Formats: sequence, C-alpha cells, structure tokens
Amino acid sequence: MKLPDYKEARTRDIREYKTVEFKFDNKIKNKYKGMKFHLKTYGCQMNEHDSENIKALLVSLGFEEVEDYEKADLVLLNTCSIRENAHNKAFGMLGRLKHLKMEKKDLIIGLCGCMAQEASVVEEILRDYKFVNFVFGTHNMYQLPNIIDEAIKTNTQQIEVLSREADLVEGLPVIRTNNYKAFVNIIYGCNKFCTYCIVPYTRGRERSRRREDIIKEVKELVSDGYKEVTLLGQNVNAYGKDLYDDYNLANLLEDIANLGIPRIRFTTSHPWDFTDSMIDVIAKYPNVMPSIHLPVQSGSSRILKLMGRRYTRESYLELFNKIKSTIPCVTVSTDIIVGFPGESEDDFLETLSLAEYCKYDNAFTFVFSEREGTPACKLKDDTPLKEKEERLQRLNEVVNKYFLENNKKLVGKVLPVLVEGVSEKKDMYYGYSDTNKLINFKSDKEVLIGSIVNVLILEAKTWSLDGELDG
Ligand code: SAH
Ligand code: SF4
Ligand code: F3S
Repeated sequence: MKLPDYKEARTRDIREYKTVEFKFDNKIKNKYKGMKFHLKTYGCQMNEHDSENIKALLVSLGFEEVEDYEKADLVLLNTCSIRENAHNKAFGMLGRLKHLKMEKKDLIIGLCGCMAQEASVVEEILRDYKFVNFVFGTHNMYQLPNIIDEAIKTNTQQIEVLSREADLVEGLPVIRTNNYKAFVNIIYGCNKFCTYCIVPYTRGRERSRRREDIIKEVKELVSDGYKEVTLLGQNVNAYGKDLYDDYNLANLLEDIANLGIPRIRFTTSHPWDFTDSMIDVIAKYPNVMPSIHLPVQSGSSRILKLMGRRYTRESYLELFNKIKSTIPCVTVSTDIIVGFPGESEDDFLETLSLAEYCKYDNAFTFVFSEREGTPACKLKDDTPLKEKEERLQRLNEVVNKYFLENNKKLVGKVLPVLVEGVSEKKDMYYGYSDTNKLINFKSDKEVLIGSIVNVLILEAKTWSLDGELDG
C-alpha cells in the first residue's frame, strides 16, 4: 500500500526524471477475457486523454467496454479535484456503486485520477469506502494492469498512489475516442501554484515530453488520417523549459505545422509566458488554428496578485491586444473565477469591465471553490455564497451577450468546418470551425464525416451557428 503524502506533493523542488518505454506484463495479457468494464471520466482534457490510455490498458487485460455501468464487472472512476462539485459527483457515484455492489458481490470498483492524489480522499476511502477494490494516482497510471490483477487475485484493497511525479512513460497503448481529432500530451504537471488551484498537487511539477516522441506521435496520427491534434498541458507555454535551452512551444508548433496535419490546437496557455514568437507562429501557419484559450481569472490586479497569477490587468490586456492585432480573425476564450477570497464589488466590476472590453468568444466562469491545502484557503473570505452566485450570474449575462454579438458578425461568411457527425435529429451535420465555433449545417449532398468543408453561415445563436454547405 502506498498512500499519497500531501506535504511531499506540495514541495516545489524540480526533480530529475527519465523517459522510459512502457512494457505490458505479458503474463496477464487477456487474463480477464469475457469481463466487462465501464470507465467514467470527470474533469479536463488531460483526464479525457488519460482515459483513452486507461481503456487500452483494460482492453489489453481482456476487458470489453460497456456503456451501462450496471452491466459492468469493473467500474473505474477517473476523477477530478478542481472544484468541490467535481468531488461531490465522484463521491455520489461511489454511493450508487455501493448499492450496486450489494446486489453484485463480485463487482470490482476502482478510483483513479486527481482525487486519488489527495490524502484526505484516500483516508476517506480507507475509512468509509472499504468496498472500493483499488486506487491508483495520476503518476502511476501505467501500473494499472498489475494493480487490478493484484486486487482481483488477492481480493484485497489495493491503494497505490505516488505523491510526486516519477519517470515519464512513453508508448502507453491508446484507444482514441475520435477518429479525426486527437489529443497529444506535450507537457505534464504545473509549477505555477496559483493560490486557489489544486493541480500542482495532483499532477506534480512540469515535465516536457521529448520533441522526437511528440513528432513521432503526430506523424502516426497524420498517416492514420487524423485531421486535428490538440497539444495538451496544464501550461503548454512552459513546454521545453525543463529539457532544452533553445527549443520551446513556438519551435514545436512550427515543427508540427510542417508535418502537414490540417489543424493544430493547444491548451492551456498561461498568459504569463505567452511569447511573441508564439504569436508569430500562430499568425504565420494556416494550420495552427486562430483560436486561443487565454484564462484571465480576474480583471482586478489586486485579486490577480492574491491569486499568484504573475500578470496584471494591464499586462494581460497588452498581450490580448497583441494577439488580436497580429493574428487575423483570431477568437479568444477564457476562464474566470468570481468570489475569490476578499474580492470586493469594485474588484468584481473590474472583471466585468475587462469582459466588456475583451468580448470573448467563449468563457468558462466559476465561483471560487476552496481546495484543501491550497494557500487561498487561509485568506479571509467574508462574501456570502449568495452574493458570489449573483456575481456569477451578472458575469454570465455580459459574456453571453458577446458570444451572440460576435456570432452575429459571422452571418453571411463562409467558414471551414471539420465535420464530426450528424445531429441527433439527423437533419443537420455538425462540426467546429477553425476558430472553434460549433457549426450545424444542412447539405443536399452527402458530406464525409472527418472532412473539412466550407459552410455558409445563415443564423447566429449564443452557443452555435447554423448554416448550409457552400457550393
Ligand atoms: N492550467 C489552466 C487551468 C486549469 S483548471 C490555466 O492556468 O489556465 C481550469 C480552470 O478551473 C481554471 O482556469 C480556473 O478558472 C478554474 N479553477 C481552478 N481552481 C479553481 C477553484 N479552486 N475554484 C474555482 N475555479 C477554479
Ligand atoms: Fe492551476 Fe495555475 Fe497551474 Fe493553471 S497555471 S493548473 S490555474 S496552478
Ligand atoms: Fe481536474 Fe485534474 Fe484536470 S483536477 S481539471 S482532472 S488536471
């Protein structure tokens, strides 16, 4: 048994790491043939992509996926810790699984992902959730086959969580959810320690994948017919800093753009180290999509300082203006937290005015959620939750207004759309534009799923656009 140690997770030291090749233990290959698994994923794209690896590992053990968790022999929750409601969702699901296990004694239940890295969660599982068969963390996902095998074979609870990052493992098997769009990790972990955020404790310090490993993966995706890659990291702008003196995200974007994949996206960019050379590369290469997620979190420099974000309202706006003026037709989206401890009405009004100025194309807005062990927990917070919720609503009214206003400007324009499927009502195709707008469109001719087509925009909505195939 290995329990997570929060003290160790909180240390900021950068450790040496090796890159190692994954090897599947052949003795347990297909050992569980005939058994079914259900995997539930919470949280961000990082977790979604981890789940693509987890699925492939389970399939190598012989398991087959089922959609209905009640029909599964093994249910695994890949969890998220970012806000309290993500926590509550996973614990709620564990409650349902407890009932299911009363009827199905042999049901195997596992928990992994970011919540597994939290000492208090693991303590709670040891105390109150004895029916959970196994727990592993974000740093040892590659050990999943042996952990599950051990849990089943010995019928004992297996808790195996490393407190800090270990070696970087290449060559994990993957079953991708989408045949045209793929996630590619470029950097793991985060060194920023924003005062409200739990990610540095659950994902460890920044570790970049070697450029040759990333390029190899993208080349394979190109030859498999993929049209789009999204380069993933909690802070992709830090790519390369831990590995190279003279190779960074701008260089990597350029190298990937030259591989000829039609669409490249990346997320998430921290405004603090967004460089001019990145802006130039995005502007120069037509296959680097003109759509940037640039989380601002707050419009008040005072609150940004308390958040430990390392930029001010003014420097954010300077970067924002540079991006808007250099990259043609670029869209910018953001994340905003309201009700950070000590946020006054005046601070909040600064956030509202920044949102009015930036006219974002999309925004993910949240009420601050206290995460155990983060510095923000110690700050005085005297704003009632009701008031914070009202602020969220006021903010949403402003951002939504601009989603619609920006979309209206696109009526009559022709946008390139990567076609992902046919709507549930079967009367429209859907997909995303280069600028990451959801487009629904009609077509008299049959359109190939996975192709990029031109769509004439006819109608704007807040969250999407309607159109018809052009030509
Ligand atoms: N690495 C990304 C953020 C990943 S978390 C970045 O720095 O941009 C996604 C978003 O969740 C954050 O941008 C933030 O807006 C929100 N978030 C993180 N911690 C939170 C907390 N404790 N309460 C509320 N929202 C939070
Ligand atoms: Fe969290 Fe800040 Fe790191 Fe983003 S940059 S993951 S918000 S600590
Ligand atoms: Fe959640 Fe972990 Fe992602 S906390 S947002 S799943 S990195």
